Amino acid sequence: MTDTLDIKITQTSASRLQETDFADLPFGKVFTDHMFVADYEDGEWKNFQIVPYGDMSFSPAMSVLHYGQAFFEGLKVYKHADGKAVIFRPYKNADRFNKSAARLCAPELPRDIFVQSIAALVDIDRGWIPEGNGNSLYIRPFMFSTDPYLGVQPSKSYKFIVLACPVGAYYSKPLNVKIETKFSRSAEGGFGFAKAAGNYAGSLLPALEAMKEGYDQLIWTDGKDHAYIEELGTANVVFVIDGKIVTPSTRDTILEGITRDTLLTLARHWDLPVEERRVSVEEVIAALKEGRMTEAFGVGTAATITPIAAISLDGERFELPDPANAEFSKKALKTLDEIRYGITPDTFEWNYIV
Ligand code: PLP
Ligand code: COI
Repeated sequence: MTDTLDIKITQTSASRLQETDFADLPFGKVFTDHMFVADYEDGEWKNFQIVPYGDMSFSPAMSVLHYGQAFFEGLKVYKHADGKAVIFRPYKNADRFNKSAARLCAPELPRDIFVQSIAALVDIDRGWIPEGNGNSLYIRPFMFSTDPYLGVQPSKSYKFIVLACPVGAYYSKPLNVKIETKFSRSAEGGFGFAKAAGNYAGSLLPALEAMKEGYDQLIWTDGKDHAYIEELGTANVVFVIDGKIVTPSTRDTILEGITRDTLLTLARHWDLPVEERRVSVEEVIAALKEGRMTEAFGVGTAATITPIAAISLDGERFELPDPANAEFSKKALKTLDEIRYGITPDTFEWNYIV
């Protein structure tokens, strides 16, 4: 860590903590008492503040509203039995945030500012970290352009904000997904690798259509031929085929997930065969038809490790074996939870203690 950030703290005089129902935590709807806010102006980051969570006012000409220079991160904080708050792999998110920033012509945010801002918010709102397996404090850092100017050019001013939400599971049951062969999430040379707000805007209609057809989610394929598997709408995708852990290699069209990296690190640590490579739709369908695919699941911060129950292509549905018997994904989730909740030693040094 570099020097501690100089943060001006304005505490709320009316905490909502006591009136919050921790037994009912819909994802992303309940916010903690405070938020972190910083400004980028005149070529530097300044005005580091923690203020009560609440509405803000902006110019209607603010450039993000017109040209979409906005991107975000998602990470989680866990509470250990001894009361410690632990942020999971925040420097990885800091680095990905800056990859998004570079692609969207936004300023770099020094990784220590990223991590310290989160740590400071977690510290002040530590009473909001929910207990219980599967529960955590979801952290949403984001940056957007604020120049009140309608010309198309990179903004000169930005805001960086961090919100925190106590959450439970994002998906409550194994997913019924379809392989998307009409719409595309991203294209080569585009910004699919960035956690840009626009990537999610473009995914809403295809996801809505998939839901109308009775699916929970879709699996994106490459934008050129729809011949190769890319990722899920909110997570990376991993298969177990012929006993091997197979996942699409990341490229400029795919978000390089931190949960994906964590899971592959565990698999390699256990000496399991891992293949990161292009995965064709044809291969996936053949493995499903021939019963060679024993597991499929999504991996992401919000999704954690969510099993896939069935995969469809052009209306033809293929069931996977009961996820309750999944060997690898269940073991990985158990190990991951034990590390995150401080039950086993964090030998990989993934936990950042606040
Ligand atoms: N892919 C997409 C499109 C996502 O939204 C996410 C979630 O953040 C992921 C993959 C997984 O990334 P991570 O594991 O870093 O959360
Ligand atoms: C995350 O897992 O952090 C995500 O960003 C997924 C989704 C909630 C947008």
